[in-house]
Amino acid sequence: MASLILLCVLLLWPLSSGSEVVDVLVILPKNNSYLFSYPRVAPALQYAQRRLRGADPHGALTFNLSYADSECGNSALFSLVDDSCEKRPDLILGPVCEYAAASVARLASHWDIPMVTAGALAAAFSQKSGEYSHLTRVAPSYLKMAETFAAMFQHFSWRSALLVYEDDKEERTCHFTLEAVFLLLDPDLHDHLRTHMLSGARDERLDAEDLLHAVREAEVVIMCMGADVIREVMLAAHRRRLTDGSTVYFNIELFNTSSYGNGSWKRGDKLDTEARLAYASLNTVTLLKTVKPEFENFSMEVNRSIQKERLADCQDCGSINMFLEGFHDALLLYGIALHEATRKGFSKKDGAQITAHMWNRTFEGIAGPVSMDANGDREQDFSIMAMTRPEEGSYEVVANYFAINGSFQVLPAFNTDRFTLRGRRKPSPPTPEKSYGLGVSALTGIIVGALLGTALLMAFYFFRKNYRISIDRRTRLEQCDIGKHRQLREDSIRSNFSAA
Ligand SMILES: *[C@@H]1O[C@H](CO)[C@@H](O)[C@H](O)[C@H]1NC(C)=O
Ligand SMILES: *[C@@H]1O[C@H](CO)[C@@H](O)[C@H](O)[C@H]1NC(C)=O
Ligand SMILES: *[C@@H]1O[C@H](CO)[C@@H](O)[C@H](O)[C@H]1NC(C)=O
Ligand SMILES: *[C@@H]1O[C@H](CO)[C@@H](O)[C@H](O)[C@H]1NC(C)=O
Ligand SMILES: *[C@@H]1O[C@H](CO)[C@@H](O)[C@H](O)[C@H]1NC(C)=O
Ligand SMILES: *[C@@H]1O[C@H](CO)[C@@H](O)[C@H](O)[C@H]1NC(C)=O
Ligand SMILES: *[C@@H]1O[C@H](CO)[C@@H](O)[C@H](O)[C@H]1NC(C)=O
Ligand SMILES: *[C@@H]1O[C@H](CO)[C@@H](O)[C@H](O)[C@H]1NC(C)=O
Repeated sequence: MASLILLCVLLLWPLSSGSEVVDVLVILPKNNSYLFSYPRVAPALQYAQRRLRGADPHGALTFNLSYADSECGNSALFSLVDDSCEKRPDLILGPVCEYAAASVARLASHWDIPMVTAGALAAAFSQKSGEYSHLTRVAPSYLKMAETFAAMFQHFSWRSALLVYEDDKEERTCHFTLEAVFLLLDPDLHDHLRTHMLSGARDERLDAEDLLHAVREAEVVIMCMGADVIREVMLAAHRRRLTDGSTVYFNIELFNTSSYGNGSWKRGDKLDTEARLAYASLNTVTLLKTVKPEFENFSMEVNRSIQKERLADCQDCGSINMFLEGFHDALLLYGIALHEATRKGFSKKDGAQITAHMWNRTFEGIAGPVSMDANGDREQDFSIMAMTRPEEGSYEVVANYFAINGSFQVLPAFNTDRFTLRGRRKPSPPTPEKSYGLGVSALTGIIVGALLGTALLMAFYFFRKNYRISIDRRTRLEQCDIGKHRQLREDSIRSNFSAA
């Protein structure tokens, strides 16, 4: 069906324009320790090219791909400048890492080149009016993810939260992930929102009395860090009896499927039993997965190419992650937009026009429909996973959040007890869904979702200006050890969430 639509679109390609070669510069890290290294992404792009070619018998559209190593940092910008000496590319795919993407996105806007990426997920990139005007994001931004939490806080009437994250001061993935949660929750929770950054030596950080003290104070703990650190924190909390139902724990893991769900607590050591019990209180927010027959084909072919290449240092390269899917869809989206723009008389050099044609539309991606909002960011649905069988320690999806209508859908496996706070002052029960069943719950979902969406949007803009001040006050736990160098990089993508 999807291919059929694509075929129809491309069959109508203006014959008069002749053969069009689109120069694409792909800027991604070469090191396969990244889920989005270009040796891993390349087969997905080849698949997308084959698909576009198959749908285009006149051969009117050809992509000429070249790759540059971003090293997840400044090299991205240098590669772009160096590679553009003779000829500027018509399209830039990537980079994914925030700091690499920031500089490239600015130059892309300046040069009127569309930039499409499955990264650049930080909140600052949502401001498209100025320097990021040519940036299209085909992966869900952290702000979209944060809506899931905002919806849950409304739904369950939670009133305080602690955000715990690990900051490597390099790529700062978790910093940016929780920054978005902070931005969306802050207006509602005011003084009941705290942050705690983990850094430094391993022993130091988990003896941290202040972390456990902060956990005790909060109704909800939201964590973003490596799988091993999560386990340490959960074990520490369990030993202090903080997993008795008085606190709800979440971790956020959007992309690395091997670090959550079944077996995530297991290490084969003597702490496994304890960890399984602790993880009974841990819920994971991740992407809602959709599959369709075509996706099977895609993952088989991509896996085959990757196996054939025998990539160096490539752990679990057989698994098809969100970035491969995203970059495939990115090329597809560009193809559709370029086609439309060409029909209206624009050329591949009209970057702003092509960008505009990529926004505010829905198209059929490799794993299902992909909706781009009017701001050029992907709408995405999210799932909440929880341990449903504590004896086995196995996980299931228990609820979903739908971005398109802002509704929170509770699945049969959902255990209300697990999300209700015990031994605390009873929150007022504005969720009749518990006693009235699913019909009402869905309705509540719509209403809550709609109100929430509006409220959040207003609150978000209203409170924006005050972040820097409020966060200074609240993050005393954070060390001010970010050198001047870091602050400059920090400023360079205009983030407000750091200990500035
Ligand atoms: C790739 O990155 C990993 C982890 O950062 C590092 O250990 C490894 O040396 C890097 N490989 C290359 C070839 O640079
Ligand atoms: C593709 O790009 C490379 C360099 O970027 C260039 O040498 C080559 O001629 C191009 N191929 C086509 C078919 O345009
Ligand atoms: C994904 O998670 C697994 C298990 O925690 C870990 O070993 C691996 O290094 C992670 N991969 C990346 C790219 O972060
Ligand atoms: C999968 O790909 C093969 C060849 O690439 C094709 O013949 C087959 O029809 C595809 N299957 C689906 C379900 O798209
Ligand atoms: C990828 O291929 C390898 C070898 O052919 C296989 O062992 C692995 O299970 C495949 N992975 C997926 C996700 O299909
Ligand atoms: C988005 O598209 C819809 C129709 O598909 C249109 O009504 C709406 O005005 C568009 N929004 C923006 C901001 O362009
Ligand atoms: C986890 O294991 C359970 C039972 O062993 C199984 O039903 C479930 O599908 C598994 N979940 C995932 C996400 O693989
Ligand atoms: C919201 O959208 C999802 C996906 O389109 C749909 O399954 C769900 O029923 C909708 N929920 C409501 C309350 O309309």
